[in-house]
Amino acid sequence: MSETLENLLQETRQFPPPAELAENANVKADAYKEAEVDRLAFWEKQARRLHWFKEWDQTLDWSNPPFAKWFVGGQLNISYNCLDRHVLAGQGDRVAIHWEGEPGDTRTLTYNDLLIETKKAANALTSLGVQAGDRVAIYMPMIPEAAVAMLACARIGATHSVVFGGFSVDALKGRIQDASAKVVITADGGYRRGAPSALKPTVDESVAECPTIEKVLVVRRTGQDVAWTDKDVWWHDAVGNASEEHEAPAFDAEHPLFILYTSGTTAKPKGILHTTGGYLTQASFTHHAVFDLKPESDIYWCTADIGWVTGHSYIVYGPLSNGATQVMYEGTPDTPHKGRFWELIEKYRVTILYTAPTAIRTFAKWGDDIPAQFDLSSLRLLGSVGEPINPEAWMWYREHIGGNRCPIVDTWWQTETGAIMISPLPGVTNCKPGSAMGPLPGISATIVNDEGQPTDGGYLTLTEPWPSMLRTIWGDNDRFIETYWARFREQGYYFAGDGAKRDSDGAIWLLGRVDDVMLVSGHNISTTEVESALVAHPAVAEAAVVGATDATTGQAICAFVILRGGASVSEAELRDHVGKTLGPICKPRQVQLVAELPKTRSGKIMRRLLRNIAEKKELGDTTTLQDANVMQLIKEGMQTSTED
Ligand code: WT7
Repeated sequence: MSETLENLLQETRQFPPPAELAENANVKADAYKEAEVDRLAFWEKQARRLHWFKEWDQTLDWSNPPFAKWFVGGQLNISYNCLDRHVLAGQGDRVAIHWEGEPGDTRTLTYNDLLIETKKAANALTSLGVQAGDRVAIYMPMIPEAAVAMLACARIGATHSVVFGGFSVDALKGRIQDASAKVVITADGGYRRGAPSALKPTVDESVAECPTIEKVLVVRRTGQDVAWTDKDVWWHDAVGNASEEHEAPAFDAEHPLFILYTSGTTAKPKGILHTTGGYLTQASFTHHAVFDLKPESDIYWCTADIGWVTGHSYIVYGPLSNGATQVMYEGTPDTPHKGRFWELIEKYRVTILYTAPTAIRTFAKWGDDIPAQFDLSSLRLLGSVGEPINPEAWMWYREHIGGNRCPIVDTWWQTETGAIMISPLPGVTNCKPGSAMGPLPGISATIVNDEGQPTDGGYLTLTEPWPSMLRTIWGDNDRFIETYWARFREQGYYFAGDGAKRDSDGAIWLLGRVDDVMLVSGHNISTTEVESALVAHPAVAEAAVVGATDATTGQAICAFVILRGGASVSEAELRDHVGKTLGPICKPRQVQLVAELPKTRSGKIMRRLLRNIAEKKELGDTTTLQDANVMQLIKEGMQTSTED
């Protein structure tokens, strides 16, 4: 990418916070000032929201960048902060988790229940030989035991590595081997799309090639038949018979809490390492500030899987540290019907919903009439994470889910950042549809050009260390430096890998991964802006845009578009629409109507695969693809389409 990114999309709509929310907000405008005056004092104050067995001696040690140490000398226990603390404060009877299985079975766990189960699991892990510092892989469906497993590891100082339950043998095996995990916690299976989906066979195949694994702890969820080896132990035996007594030991603030693998597009996954005190400080504070959680009255629901960092920070550690009552759902949004999410919101009177743009665009595609059949009046705040949210998807979310009354927090962060970095504060910020607005108090972000100089359109960087920052890539300090800190070494900035622009009011707009930026006739054009222009057409539900090599323009814009249910439109009209919205340079060379788009399991569009199709190359690695058939269907569609 050269000097700057073109600034194409103009957005003038703005939505101030609801007066009542602003009045009673957990965090108000003064927080920005306070953090600006003394950033470290600000984070110390947030750290004091937690219970420390021993206070820290030094807030931040940045003497050996990029290796940060936060709250040096402090000691705490994460599980104690998420559980014991609330029970000791008399909140043991508060519901922690309203769990809903996909088939409709339910479980309710109070903080007391969750604490007892976690203590038993901690004792069981200890008796299986797990000690502080050991790694434990967790490969689970979305059942309460997944959260218990994480909390039990944290309680005894074992470093967990959660592997998304949809991943294959190779993915699981590679992650177990990279971390030399000692134990795997899994289940026989989970329910997905109306049927039991087995997990244990994948674990068996993986463990056969993982000599470091000593024990496999298996939850019985579906009751399906499982093969059994001498390493296997049933959860209901080991945890069921364990003692309910367990005192949480104190761990150093920099004790490793978890490793979570994040894949580049093709390269070997990076084991992102997070530690204890700084991570919990920021996960807890941001959950309190950005979702304005009132633990006595809110019902919070984050629809992510615990296999992603969103599940770590905003299902387990953030919400539980704040004493939240939350909904946890096992299944998919279309089982047994496409109104499942709205049915659950109505049933549990959910007040705060946190989901992803990919889901929002899918709901828009399914039709406005589906959410309209449910009572969503309990909602008071909506959140979005994972990708840039197109302004029209934002407006759809606001109107059809939020009843035009709920603020939307578009939260930018990464597995690497551990917690939310750029987001509105719902009681303070005048939100613009599609913008993550600005860095949270205590966070410093700047958009720079190739030379690392401030600019209005370029690379997003983080200019100061933050408490929940990744500490390294597990076992590979060089790769950690190379990937995140080499690009702007001179400035000492963290390179996020995302393009961004700043508008005349200072609001930040995320423009997608810099690898995806298109260079068309010498203009740097972000895929996000062209996609947003397409989604702004009333017939379009979702769009993916890539730059394909072109003899005349260098790269040419190729768009893959999914229409809303019942809509029809010509490709020529969509090309003209983009040309009119963003300017003639952005008019796609071709627009292909498709039924599905290739996405990763976490819902991100795999533009690399679409680029190959547009350039008629081989597909390349499709192992992280959610639905392998999608590519074949798109390819077949391309052969019959006309290019003008
Ligand atoms: C990448 C990180 C953060 C938890 C889930 C994803 C993109 C994330 C936004 C947003 C625009 C976003 C970025 C980022 N991203 N949130 N609100 N607006 N882009 O975690 O898998 O580590 O992905 O997701 O490209 O770098 P992840």
